[in-house]
Amino acid sequence: MDCLQIVGGKRLRGSVQINGAKNAALPIMAAAILCEGEVVLHNVPDLTDVRTMEHLLNQLGVSTSREGPHTLRLKVVDEMNCHADYELVRRMRASICTMGPLLAKRHEARISLPGGCAIGDRPINLHMAGLIALGADSELTNGDVMLKAKRLMGNELFLGGAFGSTVTGTANILMAATLAEGTTVIESAACEPEVTDLANFLNACGARIAGQGSPRIVVEGVKQLTGCEYTIIPDRIEAGTFIIAGAITNGDIRLRNCRLEHLLAFVDRLRAVGVNIERDGDEVLVSSARRLEPTTITSQPYPGFPTDLQAQMMALLCLADGNSIITEKIYPDRFMHVAEMSRLGAKLRKEGPTVMVEGVKRLVGAPVMASDLRASAALVLAGLVAKGRTTVNRVYHIDRGYERIEQRLQALGADIERSTRAEEI
Ligand code: EPU
Repeated sequence: MDCLQIVGGKRLRGSVQINGAKNAALPIMAAAILCEGEVVLHNVPDLTDVRTMEHLLNQLGVSTSREGPHTLRLKVVDEMNCHADYELVRRMRASICTMGPLLAKRHEARISLPGGCAIGDRPINLHMAGLIALGADSELTNGDVMLKAKRLMGNELFLGGAFGSTVTGTANILMAATLAEGTTVIESAACEPEVTDLANFLNACGARIAGQGSPRIVVEGVKQLTGCEYTIIPDRIEAGTFIIAGAITNGDIRLRNCRLEHLLAFVDRLRAVGVNIERDGDEVLVSSARRLEPTTITSQPYPGFPTDLQAQMMALLCLADGNSIITEKIYPDRFMHVAEMSRLGAKLRKEGPTVMVEGVKRLVGAPVMASDLRASAALVLAGLVAKGRTTVNRVYHIDRGYERIEQRLQALGADIERSTRAEEI
């Protein structure tokens, strides 16, 4: 099993290209199920999750082909299969994004229930309630959700839950509503840029969606969707991770293809910590003072501070000059990285959904274990600055969401290598 070996202490310098957003690409790929013509997507990141979605779509009768690393062509060639089976859904929860399109286009969807994962319970009750409100009948058989509807009908529905809006839930309802008869109003819709990107893609295919980016989305159903050529937005979470890589190493880096307007809550907190972030045309410049101020972070739905950057921010705050407080409001158990960072000398105390971070002068390298995608990114960031060698094991988690992470960090001057020999832990 691959691991990353990092020798900390190098200041990062230079420029890095930010890739397309994983969490926009996955539902947009699934939306190809709805389209009559060919879909050509540019700026698709080359990640394991994207390959898994390709594999699932192939099983569902969608042909896929690549042109270069970041352009993907998709076309429906067979509409017989409506079953996303456990083998793929358990590997990637975003497989659930095929549910809305299958139901709307093929009148039937059978999706294995995803089950829990490292970051929490992650139920799909809101997805189900939304699709049922559009007229679907549902039944649970052998761990699979079966949905059927001869015809979906537009409706007014509220998609909020105990932890706020749902990103992939909004995506599913949005996709299903494009082909429903009449008007659908989604109240408490997720406002994340990835949902807006999906809506913009669907509109480019002939859908009639308004209000994307706000909590109230209105969809006028249409008879059919065509294909289109579309460019995925840059990945704000990848950008945020590289910004912290620059900041934590006291570096000086430039990000290309970065939409700072999607990261304002994050930028606000980083500036509070003392990191300089400047826009330069389409690029973003990051540098940091040697001394980092402590701060308070609360993850929230967009436009709040993203949960997908909480772990990486913790790595940075471990080195601040004082005590910080991090509260997780989306996934109260998303703290698997706490114990691993403590192995590097971080001083962390978890109480419920909150972690008290007592800044330390330095972290010290050690073998650590990645538990999920963003936790692994956080451990790599900590390794970049920890004294001596850090080995991040189970690095397949990071390959789900960051393309060739070690090569891109090497290009910025980091001492990081992938190896197949994991150290004893
Ligand atoms: N929730 C419910 N019921 C539902 C759906 C969600 O209670 O039916 C709860 C969840 O348990 C959670 C909250 O609502 O407490 C928000 O979950 P959401 O549905 O928004 O999450 P998701 O759509 O499953 C996406 C991203 C995650 C990201 C979250 C939150 C994709 C493929 N995944 O997940 O990304 O953390 O939104 O922003 O878009 C990652 O990239 O590392 C990742 C985990």
